[in-house]
Amino acid sequence: MPYTDRNLAHAVHPDRGVMHFAEADTMRERLIVGLDLPTLREAEKAVRELEGTVSFYKIGYQLAFAGGLEFARELASGGTKVFLDMKLLDIDNTVAKGVENIVRMGVTMLTLHAYPKAMKAAVEAAKGSDLCLLGVTVLTSMDEQDMIDAGYEYDPHTLVLRRSEQALHAGMGGIVCSAEEAEAVRRIVGPDLAVVTPGIRPAGSDHGDQKRVVTPAQAIRNGSSHLVVARPIVAAPDRRAAAEAILAEMQSA
Ligand code: C5P
Repeated sequence: MPYTDRNLAHAVHPDRGVMHFAEADTMRERLIVGLDLPTLREAEKAVRELEGTVSFYKIGYQLAFAGGLEFARELASGGTKVFLDMKLLDIDNTVAKGVENIVRMGVTMLTLHAYPKAMKAAVEAAKGSDLCLLGVTVLTSMDEQDMIDAGYEYDPHTLVLRRSEQALHAGMGGIVCSAEEAEAVRRIVGPDLAVVTPGIRPAGSDHGDQKRVVTPAQAIRNGSSHLVVARPIVAAPDRRAAAEAILAEMQSA
């Protein structure tokens, strides 16, 4: 079945819970802004500036260790969607216990590294909840040489596809990969799983440490269900204008 906004809006799986994607105004629901900021005060300011434009935020390492977990709970309880980017990986029992507590936070998405045992433990722990578990395949900052240096025998593309297959079999709710790989991943995981893509850069913008980058329009065309954007929005002089420009580019696709 081809991937469409309609199946995105109805993405449901008995083991994965229900992913509440709004049917109206879908593009807005598909932009996730990474609150990669040093302090809670900065993050609160960004959310205020983006109010009405952005409805989904990602909280990762930087903010999590500066009061961001409490902020995630607060945003979630106020009805804002939160993607907790914790990229968990540990022994099965530790992953499961962590996931059980994260379920209670009321966030919408959580990442873990797409290792089969960790994914199975997390799926079991999140069963019956609405939490969408995402498997991180290969970080978008890694290229072929980085993979060799890290001891992998696969190139990024091959490992992304292999881990996507494993995530599907483990019962995960979605995949995190580069939008360069989204089309191939979509063919493996089918229409219902979320394909969440960071490494998004509007044409002409600074890549920073990202290596496998794609523009917002191309990411949508490649089958991404959600785009994760941090620096191109949070480091922009006018955050709202930057977010609106990215949304317009998504819409144009
Ligand atoms: O600033 P930028 O838009 O590059 O931020 C991308 C965000 O997505 C960062 O918070 C980064 O941790 C996260 N991420 C990523 N690549 C992955 C998974 C998450 O860049 N594979």
